[in-house]
Amino acid sequence: SVDCRVFSGIQPTGTPHLGNFLGALENWVSLQHQYPLVLYSIVDLHSITQPQDPQQLRANILDMAASLLACGIDPEKAILFQQSQVSEHTELSWILGCLTSMPRLRHLPQWKIKSKQKSEGSVGLYTYPVLQAADILLYKSTHVPVGEDQVQHLELAQDLARIFNNHYGELFPEPRTLLSSTRKVKSLRDPLSKMSKSDPHKLASITITDPPEDIALKIRRAVTDFTSEVTFEPETRPGVSNLVTIHAAMAQISVEDAVSQARGIDTGAYKNLVIEAVIERLTPIREEIERLRADHTYLESVLLQGTQKARELAAPVLKEVRHRVGF
Ligand code: ADP
Ligand code: NA
Repeated sequence: SVDCRVFSGIQPTGTPHLGNFLGALENWVSLQHQYPLVLYSIVDLHSITQPQDPQQLRANILDMAASLLACGIDPEKAILFQQSQVSEHTELSWILGCLTSMPRLRHLPQWKIKSKQKSEGSVGLYTYPVLQAADILLYKSTHVPVGEDQVQHLELAQDLARIFNNHYGELFPEPRTLLSSTRKVKSLRDPLSKMSKSDPHKLASITITDPPEDIALKIRRAVTDFTSEVTFEPETRPGVSNLVTIHAAMAQISVEDAVSQARGIDTGAYKNLVIEAVIERLTPIREEIERLRADHTYLESVLLQGTQKARELAAPVLKEVRHRVGF
């Protein structure tokens, strides 16, 4: 595993919610201790596939850096950087885009889901997964932690590595998918759908900066069912099972232990245990984010150092790509 390289990215489109935290970021933190080379990118180029206000975007980039650091990303262990500051990403994306076809991209989830929300999607949204492939291949990444929703995009990156290698000679390892977590956090209002920042309902998701009173309110209002006993049966009792998932994950105990702590109390009283576990885990993170948000100089310096390290890795790879292509 000496040559293993981990890459993952997150869009700077707002404060992470519990789904992002438990489904991705927690795993990112543990991977940085397991692999010798780990890169985490704030993928601002990807975020402009949807309209963004420039000032808001700039603030969101620093905010995401603060969130990642507060969740435990250690800039000494992982290269944390801003995608747009390493111009090799866009150049490799162009070259890879010339190695795939329009039909190959048409059925990929990002386009299928997001372009439906508009009358017309942008070209950038269409080629979003090509840029993702470039992000990954640029560092010769071998392992890519993603959620299940990203598996098809990873397959494109694997295809493009293979196609490039066939055309121009072996260069890129085929990146392997590391499923971040099979843990799915559901919406607190509609436990049949996942917790998502695009959910318009204000009480549907908990962000990692929510103050205790908001956490309490959202969990108290969480949809359950007409059975008062606490059990873990995601298929038939998605609401209460989601609370068990959240409780177990936040308290870092097993689902069985979470259920056994609920023995003898009803779902209403159980919510207090869940509230307590979430507040206890998120309070130090929220406080650290507040501290970091006030220190732009520090956040900018972390990103700048990360960018320099990323550039040092990217430059020789792109140089070789250019040479192979004939530039
Ligand atoms: P959103 O759906 O809120 O826009 P993203 O698509 O930005 O979230 O997801 C970022 C990461 O967080 C991905 O790895 C994704 O799989 C994970 N993730 C998002 N929502 C959830 C959820 N509800 N449960 C578990 N993981 C999630
Ligand atoms: Na998504």
